[in-house]
Amino acid sequence: MFKGKTYIITGIADKHSLAMYVAKEILKNNGKVICTGLGVSQFHTDLSDRAQAFLNESYKNFKNSVEEELGQDVKTFVLDVTLPESIEDFCNKLKSENISIDGLLHAIAMDKTIRNKKVKPLLEVSFEEFCDTMEVSAFSLVSLTASLKNHGLLNAGSSICSLSYIAAQKVTFHPYRNISIAKAALERITIELADELGRQNGTRVNCVRFSTYLGSKAGTATLTTEDVEHAAQKSPLGNAQPQDLAYEVAHLLRPGTRITGEIRHVDGGYNIVG
Ligand SMILES: NC(=O)c1ccc[n+]([C@@H]2O[C@H](COP(=O)([O-])OP(=O)(O)OC[C@H]3O[C@@H](n4cnc5c(N)ncnc54)[C@H](O)[C@@H]3O)[C@@H](O)[C@H]2O)c1
Repeated sequence: MFKGKTYIITGIADKHSLAMYVAKEILKNNGKVICTGLGVSQFHTDLSDRAQAFLNESYKNFKNSVEEELGQDVKTFVLDVTLPESIEDFCNKLKSENISIDGLLHAIAMDKTIRNKKVKPLLEVSFEEFCDTMEVSAFSLVSLTASLKNHGLLNAGSSICSLSYIAAQKVTFHPYRNISIAKAALERITIELADELGRQNGTRVNCVRFSTYLGSKAGTATLTTEDVEHAAQKSPLGNAQPQDLAYEVAHLLRPGTRITGEIRHVDGGYNIVG
């Protein structure tokens, strides 16, 4: 299905990341992946010891899990989407290695207003916290795509997919507040980009809303076992699993479809229940 095609996979923190399942599905179907992970770059300045240690640990986990799960020959790059220089550097590296791409998985999110599974009320969220979450979790789809396009790295007929959650539209039983607004922006960006890029070079842009999933770092930081069980009971088919997501994302990424601007659900039907 992906023979001769190369996809950028962002958002692998470890082997439990949703992005890892998508990467495996692409490899299984004869495609190539290039993985990006959070880590220290030359563009980080004034990092505290704590931040430096966090980034180093993140990169080590990312690199090890890519090697173990996807193989030693998969290319990995540091990418911090909050640093335009890091995005630029990543694109320059792809260019210098003569790599162009046929698609991208955006699986990046961060919200510092959720700590120890506790969500800060929206009325207590500062403008800085709002913008940080928006930058990492939503605008990064624009900045990364724009950079790839401007460097001539995005092949005509490419496909881009990002990951969202039902909270972009509805207040769920465990309201996410700040990140919900960023997810709503991510979904709207999907639709606007689908129009712009579709007309420019036939690139498709879609987004998938997935079930609550405790397995990843983001899931562990935000969800409780009760949350996941509650969602499973509400969903007609129970919670969707990462492999269900991987099948759907692979379908959206594969060449030759005319599906674009979609906000899809892979959630066991959770979204249809009132
Ligand atoms: N876990 C869930 O319940 C769930 C449900 C629906 C959607 N999602 C979405 O799926 C995506 C992947 O999440 P996951 O559950 O696999 O968790 P994860 O923790 O494995 O992935 C989140 C990723 O975001 C990356 N990231 C954060 N800040 C970054 C930055 N500045 N630059 C580059 N990368 C950065 C992290 O390094 C990590 O790899 C996210 O968009 C998340 O919101 C998750």
